[in-house]
Amino acid sequence: ALTLLLVAVLGYLLGTIAAGLLISRVMGLGDLRKIGSGNIGATNVLRTGNKGAAALTLLFDALKGVVAVLLGRMLAGEAGAQIGALFAVLGHCWPVWLGFKGGKGVATFLGVWLALAWPVGLACCATWAAAAYVRRISSLAALTAAASSTLWALLFGYSGTVVLALGLTALVFSRHSANIARLRAGTEPKIGQK
Ligand code: G3P
Repeated sequence: ALTLLLVAVLGYLLGTIAAGLLISRVMGLGDLRKIGSGNIGATNVLRTGNKGAAALTLLFDALKGVVAVLLGRMLAGEAGAQIGALFAVLGHCWPVWLGFKGGKGVATFLGVWLALAWPVGLACCATWAAAAYVRRISSLAALTAAASSTLWALLFGYSGTVVLALGLTALVFSRHSANIARLRAGTEPKIGQK
């Protein structure tokens, strides 16, 4: 139990590293909080016009999820991997350093699935890409990918991760309430639009 607690704390701390804020600050792209949706994720970094910075943010935010899962697995097996996954996403969404005002968890969600169960991770990435290709809206693609994760977990035989998949999906949806309102109103911007 103590090891699982350690995994939770490490996962959370990894999750709190706000790559978008750090990268946009270092690259002089301005305050993400005052741009576009105000979110700290790759989608909003892209609204600064800097594709490289957005890609780096996506990569880093996903990578911290990967590391949290691998660390959890190393220290406490599959239970540890799942705890690491959950807490990395929690840390990204509610970072103590930013007054608990964090991101929406999408890149970290993809990262943790790639490390937890790579077929599920790949299928979620493909779902995101397919939805983004068709509709060109990042939040809609994210919601579609998140919602599909439970299905992929069942389909690829990772039934032990279904509860986590449902929990992470609920988390990602709860972080997108403003996006869902804009989607319903038809005012959600397309990828790259300000
Ligand atoms: O990854 C977050 C994305 O789904 C929405 O971001 O900035 O459009 O709210 P944003």
